[in-house]
Formats: sequence, structure tokens, C-alpha cells
Amino acid sequence: MKELFQAPLLKYVLIALGIVVFTGVGVFPFIENKVILIIILLTYFVAFLLFLRSFYALYLLPLKKATTTITKMEQGNYRARMHFSTNNEIIEQLMYKINSLARHLSELSIQEKMHSEQLFTLINNSSSGLILIDEKGYIHLVNQQFLDMFGGREKEYKGQIYHNVLREEKFHRIVQQVFLYEKNIKDEFLYYSGIHKRYYEVVGTPIFNKKNRVKGAVLATYDITELKRLEVMRKDFVANVSHELRTPITSITGFAETLLDGGIEDPDAAKEFLSIIHKESKRMQLLIEDLLTLSKLEDENFQLVLNKITLSDLLQEVIPPLKIRAEKKGLALTVQAEEDLNFKADQERIKQIFINLIDNAIHYTPDGGKIDVEVFSTSKYVHLKVSDTGIGITEKELPRIFERFYRVDRARSRNTGGTGLGLAIVKHIVEVHKGNIDIESEVGKGTTVHVYLPK
Ligand SMILES: Nc1ncnc2c1ncn2[C@@H]1O[C@H](COP(=O)(O)OP(=O)(O)O)[C@@H](O)[C@H]1O
Ligand SMILES: [Mg+2]
Repeated sequence: MKELFQAPLLKYVLIALGIVVFTGVGVFPFIENKVILIIILLTYFVAFLLFLRSFYALYLLPLKKATTTITKMEQGNYRARMHFSTNNEIIEQLMYKINSLARHLSELSIQEKMHSEQLFTLINNSSSGLILIDEKGYIHLVNQQFLDMFGGREKEYKGQIYHNVLREEKFHRIVQQVFLYEKNIKDEFLYYSGIHKRYYEVVGTPIFNKKNRVKGAVLATYDITELKRLEVMRKDFVANVSHELRTPITSITGFAETLLDGGIEDPDAAKEFLSIIHKESKRMQLLIEDLLTLSKLEDENFQLVLNKITLSDLLQEVIPPLKIRAEKKGLALTVQAEEDLNFKADQERIKQIFINLIDNAIHYTPDGGKIDVEVFSTSKYVHLKVSDTGIGITEKELPRIFERFYRVDRARSRNTGGTGLGLAIVKHIVEVHKGNIDIESEVGKGTTVHVYLPK
């Protein structure tokens, strides 16, 4: 009953009371039996209150509940439901509709949340730096990768005009051109992040609205430093190969021409020229063989032929010819190997490791020097060690000697018939076996190369 004396019903209760009192006062002088008059008026008033109460219970109360439920939904609580027991069909339908609307909104909001989470994950895990700019030039979105690339925090970019916060001038030009030409624009730039030098490629893409008007642009930035490095390496490699081949070819052509121009008449000179031609052809052959070996090792389809290697057998095949060459140069070659050492590896490649390393030791050790080859096993590795008492390598040069065509002394290496690819090949073979290579050297004292191959 108390709801009758609260807003909004109190107003009607007071009006009814007013009417009853007013009527009572108005007709009071004309009615003799005052008691009956009061009873009638009170009865009317009570009947009105009863009517009002049932009207409240039937219509106002459910409407009030409906309003409360809708308000909760409006505030984002899609789990709110309206519960009311009634026989009134209209109210029942209203209740049913409100509850089904709430369920629908709840599903939509879950879906939307999922979509936005997916989008967030996608954007922030993209390998490219992303920035979204609207048609007025304000930044709306910047992803984690972009922040990692160029520094700063999200709030320093978001809501700002792009040319105030993007320092790189190339970004400005790309944004302007995307809006001007309404098509994808691509460019590259070099960026210094502290002492690190990085190359980036930026692709600006216009975003169109339904009326096909540009309403913004996305800038995607890719780190192409590695690609650039490979490109430079490839160019250097081609230049190096051409250079290495040109020297013997020039020499061969020159001596062949001399022979044709009459040199052949002088048997002694002819013999000397032919032997030079033979030496240079041999050099080209070695170079080409080394190049083919490298390219095979680098092929993505390259597969090691793993077989069980018996170290003593392998050494017996490899060492004798090297020993002869060493002795010819007045060098003492000693070999110490663990007995009965077996391991799994690609036999031909392992032979190549021994040949290339001992070959270097022979070439870069002056007469009277010593070369020691040791092979023993640790718990995980087969450790092979080639040391010499040769010319050594400076500390500055050490990290570079595994590069293709890198030689400390070009002329000296050439004279010994070196291609500059020997150590690059060794390093590759060790890497495809998942092993490690290490080198220590002291100028004038000698060099030791350690190779660790997994057993
Ligand atoms: N044992 C060594 N002692 C001194 N220098 C070496 C030794 N091994 C390699 N080097 C240096 O490393 C360079 C690269 O070696 P490598 O790749 O085998 O090429 P190459 O022997 O054909 O010149 C050599 O030119 C030489 O300067
Ligand atoms: Mg060599």
C-alpha cells in the first residue's frame, strides 16, 4: 500500500482526497444526514485507492521493472533480465521482448569483444610496424612493433597530428602522396637507432569509405635490414667471383696470344707459357670446384650423407699426401688421434675439413715449422685441432677470415694456389653438422683451429 503514497501515485491520491474533501464541503450544508455523507465519500475514496493500487500492480509496476532493466542494459549490463509474474498478456510479451533483446545484445557484445581482441592481437603481433592516420592527419592507432622500431610510447602518438610526431621525413611524403594519388605508395629509408643502422620499407595504403572517398591511410613499416645485407653480400660475391676469374683468364688469353703470334717458334718460351696456361687453368678449376662445393652446401635441399666414420681409416686416406707436401716444404707434420674413435658424419665433408685446414697450415707456415693434428673425443663432441707454428693472423683480421674470398695477404694466398674459399667451406661444413669452429692465433707464433663436431 505504501507505494500509493509515493511519487507518481501520491499526486492522484491527493487529487482524489481534494475532490472528496471539496465535494464534502460543497454538499455538506444541503445534506441532513452527515454520517451517511461521510460514509459515502470515504467509500468512494477507499474504492479509488483500491483501483489505483490494482492499476499500479498490473501496469505501473511492470513498466517500472522494464525501465530498470533497460537502464541497466543501457549502462552495459547485458546480463540484466526482467522477472515479473503476471497474467497480463501485453506485459508478458513486453517482458519476453526485453529479455530476448538483452540476450541478443549480450551475444553481440561477446562477439564484438572477441573480434576486437583478435584484431588487437593481430595488430600487435604483426611483424610490421603499423600506424593508422585519419583524413585530417590525426593518428588513431599505433602498434607495438612500430613503437619497438622507432621508440616512444603509444600515448605520444595517438591523437597527435602525424607530422608533429613522426620524425622521419619519408613518412610525411608517403602520407601526402597516399592522400594525393589515392593509391599505394612505397619507399625505403635508412634509420639510425643509436649506433644501429636499420633499413625500413614503408608502404602507405589509402582507406576508402563507402562513397569511395579517402578517409585515412595505413602505414606499414617492414624491417628490410637483413634483405639489404643479403643483397650487398650477393653483389659483393658476384663482383669477387668475376674478379677472381678475370685474373687467370687474362693470363691464359695473354699467353695463348703470345704463342699464336710466333712464341710457339721458341720451344723453351713455348714450354714456359704453356706451363703458365696450365697453372692458371688449374687455378680456375680449383676456384670453380670450391664455388660448386659452397653452393651445394648452401642449397636448401642439401642433405648430409651421414655414415659411421672410423677415424683411423679416414686419417689413413687423408694424411699421407698432405704429409708428403709438408715434408717437401721442410715441415714436420704429426698426427695424434684417439684410438678406436668412431662417430657419425658425412665422410667426404669431414675429409674436406682436414684437407683445407692442414693445407692452410702448410701454406702459411715457413720452412722448418711444425704442424700438429690432434683428434680426441669429449662427452658430446669430437674435437679436432690443427695447430701450426706459422705466420699467424692479427686479432683484427681473425673475425674476417671465414668470409668468402677474404685473405690477409692476397698475393701470398694466390701464389700458394688458394682460392680464399677454404675456410668459408670448412665453416659451412661444420655448421651443417651442427658443430662449432674456433680459431686462435698469434702473429709470428702460429695458429690453432678447433673444430667440434657432435658425436
Ligand atoms: N693457418 C693459418 N695461418 C695463417 N693464416 C691463415 C691460416 N689459415 C688461414 N689463414 C688466413 O686466412 C685466409 C683465408 O683462408 P682460406 O679461406 O683457406 O683461403 P686461402 O687459403 O685460399 O687464401 C688466408 O688467405 C690466410 O690469410
Ligand atoms: Mg686455404
